[in-house]
Amino acid sequence: MRFGYFDDERREYVITRPDTPLPWINYLGTDDYLGLISNTAGGYSFYRDARLRRLTRYRYNNAPLDVGGRYLYLRDDDSGAFWSPSWQPVQQEVEEYECRHGLGTTIIGSRSAGIRTETTYVVPLGETLEVWRTRLTNERETAARISLFSAVEWCLWDANDDATNFQRNYSIGEVEVEDGVIYHKTEYRERRDHFAWFACSEPLAGFDTQREAFLGPYRGWDRPVVVETGVAGDSLAHGWQPIGSHHVRLDLAPGETRDIVFALGYAENPPEAKFDPPGSQRIAKAGVRPVIERYRRSDEVERALTELRVHWDDLLGTFRVRTPNEHLDRMVNIWNAYQCMVTFNLSRSASLFESGIGRGMGFRDSNQDLLGFVHMVPERARQRILDISATQLPSGGAYHQYQPLTKRGNDAVGSGFNDDPAWLVLAVSAYLRETGDEAVLDEAVPFDNRPGSEVPLYEHLVRAVDYTLERLGPHGLPLIGRADWNDCLNLNCFSQTPGESFQTTENREGGAAESVFIAALFTLAAKEMTEIASRRGDQDVVDRCRQAEADMVAAVEAHGWDGAWFRRAYDYMGNVVGSAQNEEGQIFIEPQGLAVMAGIGLADGRAEQALASVRERLATTHGIVLLQPAFTRYYLELGEISTYPPGYKENAGIFCHTNPWVMIGEAIVGNGDGALDYYLRINPSAREAISDIHRCEPYVYAQMIAGGDAPTHGEAKNSWLTGTAAWNFVAATQWILGIRPERDGLRIDPSLPADWEGFSATRRLRGTRYHITVTKQRGSSGRVRSLVVDGRVVQGNVVPLPATAGGTIKVEAVIESA
Ligand code: BGC
Ligand code: NOJ
Repeated sequence: MRFGYFDDERREYVITRPDTPLPWINYLGTDDYLGLISNTAGGYSFYRDARLRRLTRYRYNNAPLDVGGRYLYLRDDDSGAFWSPSWQPVQQEVEEYECRHGLGTTIIGSRSAGIRTETTYVVPLGETLEVWRTRLTNERETAARISLFSAVEWCLWDANDDATNFQRNYSIGEVEVEDGVIYHKTEYRERRDHFAWFACSEPLAGFDTQREAFLGPYRGWDRPVVVETGVAGDSLAHGWQPIGSHHVRLDLAPGETRDIVFALGYAENPPEAKFDPPGSQRIAKAGVRPVIERYRRSDEVERALTELRVHWDDLLGTFRVRTPNEHLDRMVNIWNAYQCMVTFNLSRSASLFESGIGRGMGFRDSNQDLLGFVHMVPERARQRILDISATQLPSGGAYHQYQPLTKRGNDAVGSGFNDDPAWLVLAVSAYLRETGDEAVLDEAVPFDNRPGSEVPLYEHLVRAVDYTLERLGPHGLPLIGRADWNDCLNLNCFSQTPGESFQTTENREGGAAESVFIAALFTLAAKEMTEIASRRGDQDVVDRCRQAEADMVAAVEAHGWDGAWFRRAYDYMGNVVGSAQNEEGQIFIEPQGLAVMAGIGLADGRAEQALASVRERLATTHGIVLLQPAFTRYYLELGEISTYPPGYKENAGIFCHTNPWVMIGEAIVGNGDGALDYYLRINPSAREAISDIHRCEPYVYAQMIAGGDAPTHGEAKNSWLTGTAAWNFVAATQWILGIRPERDGLRIDPSLPADWEGFSATRRLRGTRYHITVTKQRGSSGRVRSLVVDGRVVQGNVVPLPATAGGTIKVEAVIESA
C-alpha cells in the first residue's frame, strides 16, 4: 500500500494523505540554519546545533505523534469553522491534501471549505532563516472573510534544559513585539547575544506570545481558544511558555489568490551593541531589520527557490545514471545522494529518532558518511577529514565522538572502539581517489587538538595502522576493545547493572577478545595505505603494510574461518563467536561482506562460500539480517547485542548499513544478479509499494528493518541519519555500476545482472565530465576488458586522466564474458 508517489521530474515525493504510518519528514537548510519538517508541518528548527541553539520546541515520544511545528490555522470568520491547512494539529476532514517533499523544500497543499492553501517552506541559501509562503485561493462562488493564524512555540535555546529544567524555565521567557514582528529573547538580558524573530508580510489584526493565552487553559494545539473565537489576545509572555502567533484578517473575492509570507529567523548582535537604546533592555534591531523586510516579500521566496534548485542541480549533476532499473536511478540520481548530503549536514543529531540533544559526531560515522558525499562537495570533505583527524589520539586511536561546535573529541559515548582508526584511512583514501589532492597528506594536523602536536596528516594514517598492529590478540587478530563497528558486541563488558550504558561502563581488563571484522577492515585499510605510502615513496611503510596485510589474512584464514563462513570474534575467555559451535549467533553478516571486500578468500573459493552462507542463512525478502540464530536470552559475555528482542537492531535485525558490504562482495565475485537483488530488497523506492509494512519514508534509507525473528518483519525504524546512505550509494555506483574513481583515472568495472543490456552515466571527476555508456548482450555476464575513450581503444578498464582537466570525455565500455 502506498501513501503517495514519486515525482522524479520535480525531484519530489508527493504524499497524498496526511495520516502516513509515521510522520514522514524532510530537511530544510543546507548550512547553519537547519530544520526538520514532517508531512503535516511538524518539526523544529535550530541554528547549527540542535541542542544548544534550538529555536522552536518539539515533543518527542508524544501522543499524538509529531507535536510542535510550523502551524497555521484558517478560520472562516462568517461560519466560525476553523482548520489546519497542513491537517495537523486540528486534524479536520480534508477535501484535498498533498505534501511535496523535495530537495530542501516542502510544499503542503490542501483544500478545506472551498479555500485552497499551498504553503512552501524553504531556507534560502546562505541565510539563517526560513520562510513559509502561503498561497490562499478562494475557490468559492462567494467572497470569504478569513482569519489566518500562525503558531510556533519557542524553545528556550538549550533543548535539553528546555525539556527538563522547568523550575527555572517557567520564569525566564521573554519576548518583544515591534512593528508586527515577534522577537524571542529569553536569556538575552544576560549571556546570550542571539535572538529569534518571527515576521509576517501583512498588517496584523493581533498577535499572541503567551501559550496559555493563545490555547486557553487545558486546551491543546488542536483547538486554540484564539482560533476558535477569532480574536487574538495580544498577549506578551512573561515566563511560562513563550510562543509566536500572528493573526491576519483577509477578505478574498471569489477566485482571488493571495500570498502571505511568514519568516522565522535567528540573529546575533555584537555583545557591546546588543541593546538599543544602549542601557535599555531592548534588542538592537538595526542589523536584522533589512533581512526581515526582504524576506517578507513573495518575490524573494521565488528567488530563494530558484537558487536552491540551481544548487541541487549542481550537486546532483556530479553523477547521473540511466539504467534499466527505475528504483536504482531514482535513488542514485536523487534521493540517496540527497540523504548523503543530509547526513553530512546533520551527522546523527536531529531526526525523528535522534532527539538532537545527544552530543557529538561519531568518528567512525563521519568517516563513513564521507564516502557518500565526497564526490559532491570535495572541499568540504577535505575540511571534514582535517577536523576528524585533529581529534585522533597520539596512540593512533580515537575518541569515539567529537563536538561539532568545538571540534574536540570526548569520551561521552565511551572510547576504545578499536575499529575507529581504520575508518580514517578509508575516508582519506576515498578523498584522494576523488580529488588527487595529495597535498592534503602534508597538512599539519594536531593530535587531540593539542597545539604543538601537529604532524602531517600522513603520519596520522601511519599511526592508525600501527594502532591495530600494536593491539593483536592470541590468534593474531585485532583486539576488539570496547566494541568494533558493531557497537553492541561488548565482549569485555559483563554488565549486570540495569540501566548501565554498555558503551561507557568499565571494560574488564585481562581478557583477549578479538575481532575478525577488524581484521578484515584492517586488511582493506592496509591495502589503501600501501598505495598511499608508495606514492609518497615511503618504502618502509609500504613494506610494513604489505607484511601486516599478509599476516592479517593468514590469521583470518587460520582462525577466522569457520568452515562455511567467516567467524565474528573471540570473546574475553577466548571462545569463538559467530561459529557453528555456538548455540545462537552462529553466523554474522559483517565479516562476510568485509572479508570479501578485502579480497580474503577470493583465491580459494572461501569468498563465494561465505556469500552462499549469507544467502542461505541470513537473507530474507526484506533484506539480510545481521546474524542467525537470533539471541533469545541475555549473554553476559556478549553484551548489548543480546539485550534486544530477537529481530531488532543488532540482534538479527536487518541492519541496512551492512547489506551493501554483501552487495559489494557479490559484485566482486561477479554475481551482478545477486548484488542487484540485495540492493533492491532494501531500496526504499522498491519498497514503496509496501509502505504499510515498511512504515518509514519510502524515499530514504532507515538504519534498520525488523528481521524475520520479529513479529513486525519488514518494518523500518530510524530513517534518515544512518551510514546506510553512504554505503548503499557506494555499492550501487562503484560496484554494481562499477564507476570508481582511482588515483590515475576512472575505473569502469560494472558487475551487472544478466538481463541488462547496459546503462549510461555521466560523472564529474576532478573538473572533467565523463559520458559513459556500458553495453553488453542480454543474458550474458562478464567484465569490461577494454574501453574506447574518445574513439581510441584503451586496454584494461581504467579511463586515464586527461592531460588537462575541464572538458568532456566519451567512454564506451563493452562487457564480455571471460
Ligand atoms: C547504535 C545502536 C546501538 C546503540 C547502543 C548506537 O551507536 O546506533 O545500533 O543499539 O548505539 O546503545
Ligand atoms: C550505529 C552507529 O552509529 C554506528 O557507528 C554503528 O556502527 C552501528 N550503529 C552498529 O552498531
